Amino acid sequence: MTERCFVMLKPGAINRRIVGEIITRLERKGLNLSAAKLMQITPELAKQHYAEHAKKSFFTELITYVTSAPVLAMVWEGDNCVSLMRKMIGATNPAEAAPGTIRGDFCIHTGLNIIHASDSAKNGERECSLFFKPEEIISWHDEYTDKWI
Ligand code: RTP
Ligand code: MG
Repeated sequence: MTERCFVMLKPGAINRRIVGEIITRLERKGLNLSAAKLMQITPELAKQHYAEHAKKSFFTELITYVTSAPVLAMVWEGDNCVSLMRKMIGATNPAEAAPGTIRGDFCIHTGLNIIHASDSAKNGERECSLFFKPEEIISWHDEYTDKWI
């Protein structure tokens, strides 16, 4: 079933000039990029996005990190997109993320784990609408290539 997943390249990805490399992996998987925006997010938006963690010990550190430099907010679409994306990004703790995953290959610390992806289709919809207006999300299909993916 086609799903939307909100993906955010966290601070560091842009500074380290690895944005293209990460996007290439997601494109090669066969997922569709349907929105992208470079943003310096506010503490208010970051707190809304990560509201489920408001009471956790790492919350302040997490908000400080994700607001510290530009991020690339994106919407990706495809069949089973959320679960595929979570597999491709790897475990939250980069020390446990398998080689070949994005966190397994590009970072070391949990608090600097380079990429966010929605953890359910429901959260995918919530997060996409938090960062993008409906008209900014462009769902597209290509009859010539879609049949091979
Ligand atoms: P994300 O939401 O960013 O995709 O990460 P996730 O689902 O894999 O993990 P989640 O439990 O939602 O945690 C959100 C982010 O909070 C930071 N964190 N720090 N220091 C810690 O123990 C700790 N635990 C989580 C990470 O940046 C994690 O991605
Ligand atoms: Mg999460």
